Amino acid sequence: MALSDFDLVLFGGGGDLSMRKLIPALYARHRAGDLPPSAQIICVGRHPWTDKEFVEELNQNARPNISEKTFTQEAWNAFCACVRYVSLDATDAATYDPLIDLLRHDQDMTRVFYLAMSPSLFASICKNLHQRGLVTDSSRVVLEKPLGRDLASAKQINLEVGKVFKESQIFRIDHYLGKEAVQNLLALRFGNVLFEPLWRREWISDVQITIAEELGVGNRMGYYETSGALRDMLQNHLLQLLCITAMEPPLSVTPDAVRDEKLKVLHSLKPFTPTTLARNVVRGQYRAGHVEGKPVPAYRAENSANPDSTTETFVAVKAEIDTWRWAGVPFYLRTGKRMADQLAEIVVRFKSIPHSIFAQSNSSFQPNCLVIRLQPDDGLQLNLMAKTPGDGMRLKPVELELDFAETFKTPRMDAYERLLLDVLRGHLTLFMRADELEAAWEWVEPILRHWEQEGNEPIPYTSGSWGPAAASALIGRDGLQWREEALPE
Ligand code: BG6
Repeated sequence: MALSDFDLVLFGGGGDLSMRKLIPALYARHRAGDLPPSAQIICVGRHPWTDKEFVEELNQNARPNISEKTFTQEAWNAFCACVRYVSLDATDAATYDPLIDLLRHDQDMTRVFYLAMSPSLFASICKNLHQRGLVTDSSRVVLEKPLGRDLASAKQINLEVGKVFKESQIFRIDHYLGKEAVQNLLALRFGNVLFEPLWRREWISDVQITIAEELGVGNRMGYYETSGALRDMLQNHLLQLLCITAMEPPLSVTPDAVRDEKLKVLHSLKPFTPTTLARNVVRGQYRAGHVEGKPVPAYRAENSANPDSTTETFVAVKAEIDTWRWAGVPFYLRTGKRMADQLAEIVVRFKSIPHSIFAQSNSSFQPNCLVIRLQPDDGLQLNLMAKTPGDGMRLKPVELELDFAETFKTPRMDAYERLLLDVLRGHLTLFMRADELEAAWEWVEPILRHWEQEGNEPIPYTSGSWGPAAASALIGRDGLQWREEALPE
């Protein structure tokens, strides 16, 4: 569907997210011919750059994040010609004049305000936009995570933004929902009859969801110190993956049909008790080690780190969903920085066969396992038992592999490309609704309070490992192992 003309205003336009993700994504869609020729991308920041100086900034900081495969100077120049820069103080409505001058004041024109800034500024920016008469019926606002620090602050953001924008105009972004593999999970579950009958407690023993990163915090220490892995990854990305994995079939893919089902999952998460907080949550922080053979410093020794920091860079949680479909099936979630590998995956492990008719005992059968790989490449792996060739009947585990890049051979779209197109088209399905956001905070909040009250120090783990031993113990208590730890060396 072709996009209609738009003005996209990027608050935080000169910032890290803009340079790393948003500008490269917009360039890619511009180059693909998706953006109307007269579309304007208006980057807003405090720095007093001219348009020309800002293009220099883009050359230095955004251009290196565009793959050589898709870069051409001609396409880049054409893209940069759509970009304007406006210097203003986002917290001061009186400074908005240059923005007002640049916007096209046609009531029907799509106008998007993308707030790639600290959430503490969301309320005042929305108020200022309203005060300067910039919010039309065709306006949308995009809110970048973190959406609050806890339930109270998330509610406050929802309240303040909601005074200016209708819910149907608010796009709360979680870029994991824009990943190809997450969309494919919907296709796998609801476009095939094969898995859905088995997708329940009768056949599934446990689900593991991992987002492991080899990278450390890099130059984001200022932000990360106020966040930590729980706020940065668990409250949003991991819980969204859990929702898509566990939700009931929605009536359709319309925004509210999908979001209603995700909300039910969040409401069905078993609340933590003092016992489960102590047993089912692991908090870690990386110390020095080796990643890909190279030495890396401890979190506390990173650039501009607080040497006594107690911020967690790893979190693992055992979640339970109290529904007929999932009662008794543990969902293990974990994420960490400076881990042994860079990967994101959902592992659905099926139950063991009830009885072996072969000479082998039940215990030598590996239970079937479906791995939905989000990163580094997107694909599916299904582990089955098969007969080894030759005489006799010996069974052995084998893997069915589906590599989506190999299968479709069409260029992949980055999550931000897809989500930006959805914002510009006004498609809300892949964005979080206010009640979802609050339900997710409500579930994680007891963990935050528990850590505060206990003065709970994160457990150190060596960079380049799979996290603290306590994370293996968490799953080990149920007689299980994280998939990577169970794989042969
Ligand atoms: C972001 C987090 O939301 O997701 C980062 O703030 C994290 O800390 C990133 O590195 C991971 O995203 P991806 O797409 O690289 O897995």
